[in-house]
Amino acid sequence: MRKKLLLGNWKMNKTPAEAREFCEKAGEVVSFAKAHDVDLGVAPTYVCLQTVLENAPEGLIVSAQNCNEHDHGAYTGEVSIPMLDAVGIKWCIIGHSERRGYYGETSEACNAKIKALLAAGMTPVYCCGESLETYEKGETKAFVAEQIRTGFAGLTPEEAAKVVIAYEPIWAIGTGKSATKQTAEDTIGFIRRTLRESFGHIAADIRILYGGSVKPANIAEYMSEEDIDGALVGGASLDPDSYKALVENLVK
Ligand code: 13P
Repeated sequence: MRKKLLLGNWKMNKTPAEAREFCEKAGEVVSFAKAHDVDLGVAPTYVCLQTVLENAPEGLIVSAQNCNEHDHGAYTGEVSIPMLDAVGIKWCIIGHSERRGYYGETSEACNAKIKALLAAGMTPVYCCGESLETYEKGETKAFVAEQIRTGFAGLTPEEAAKVVIAYEPIWAIGTGKSATKQTAEDTIGFIRRTLRESFGHIAADIRILYGGSVKPANIAEYMSEEDIDGALVGGASLDPDSYKALVENLVK
């Protein structure tokens, strides 16, 4: 049985004071998630990680949004996995389309980060998803399969099982134009079959989230699909009331 997961990606939003305010209002939603057997987390910016760790109710997963695959060295502006580990971070988003699109991150680079995170005993949340152009050309599956194969290259089935995948079609991110539940399930089911080719039966244990304009009003639709195990949510996760409504509707 795959445990449901809701992760709020705060992207470049919230000061530490705003992050603390969110945490102060999160007690009820964290208890609700626990009671309903849902994993619940947020991914703040680096500067807010410690604030959230110190102020969040126990049980809230706190994830970084990125990391560097090297332990230390001359990589200005970067943060390493041992540094995240040292402050108590155990999860990290990898390969978000904004990082791929604005900062040229490749699936090969993601693969190195995933391996380094797994070696450190951390959980990578590996993002994949196609552009509008690729979608309109009908090439979504070939494109996403390549992202998955490259991102997971060299992993053992046991390692692969520890990675969470987030399928986020770029055309649905922040646009209000969410994928239909059928489109999301079609691609996510395909991702699971692709994983099965490389990792066998363990593919059934890998959690795959949908992301892209998920709101309290549409999250339940996605959760009714067999292969969708939760959501990676941007905009609608920022406000504590909306975040709470997402979790409530996820379990409906
Ligand atoms: P929105 O929920 O704002 O569309 O963002 C999705 C996303 O990119 C989450 O990582």
